Amino acid sequence: MKIDFNGPIAATREIYWVGYFDKKSNLHCNPYLIIDEPDIIFIDPGSIPHFPIVMRKVLELVNPEDITYIVAQHQDPDVCGNLAVVEDIIGHNELQIVAHSYCIRLIRHLGLRSKFYPVDKHDYFLALKSGRRLEFMFTPYLHSPGAIVTYDTKTKSLFTSDIFAAISANWSLFAEGDFLSVMDPYHQIYMPSNRILKQCMERFDKMDIERILPQHGSILEGEQIKLAIEHLKALPCGIDLFEEAFA
Ligand SMILES: [Fe+2]
Ligand SMILES: [Fe+2]
Repeated sequence: MKIDFNGPIAATREIYWVGYFDKKSNLHCNPYLIIDEPDIIFIDPGSIPHFPIVMRKVLELVNPEDITYIVAQHQDPDVCGNLAVVEDIIGHNELQIVAHSYCIRLIRHLGLRSKFYPVDKHDYFLALKSGRRLEFMFTPYLHSPGAIVTYDTKTKSLFTSDIFAAISANWSLFAEGDFLSVMDPYHQIYMPSNRILKQCMERFDKMDIERILPQHGSILEGEQIKLAIEHLKALPCGIDLFEEAFA
């Protein structure tokens, strides 16, 4: 079945990809919505240039006024550059922006007026009104000092922001073909070292994960998860590749 990338796409019954499929780009951004009424969570809402298309897809699924949380997993412009305009569309004072304190210190300069929910001051979890729990894990320097990942305990889905990101001219939302080597360039450029990436992979290894939803590249499911973790455990990146320059 051919997937229509012009509309929102369900990853599970409650998790939707609402990204912009840019045929000309080899780096796609993946914002996601978790619909868990009465809460709606918008994860890594994205950039200003992508805003019109992302918001159109959000509108196909929900009333933006019903969005209760935005999770900004790190501070990059492709992750949360549109926060101030998204906030305006949501337009209510109950909205909370969920992020690590190290990230909040920087993104407040986007001119935000919502309340922040610093995960590190809330034992790294958020209890939704339904009883569902979102758990957060601090992944410093991967690739931002205030980076977090988000684990939805109900569906065992791990939203990893730039970790497991891929650059590919043949992008597909669900991983297929060679989904491992396309992750190399992004991690080699943006992740600081194998040492810290490997440590993170060892933590993921111990988790019960059914799907990984990165902010770039493809959603990984089932056996792909273990393969991707093992692949990144062994990948030299960042400073590893420039050691000679520092010698
Ligand atoms: Fe990033
Ligand atoms: Fe990114």
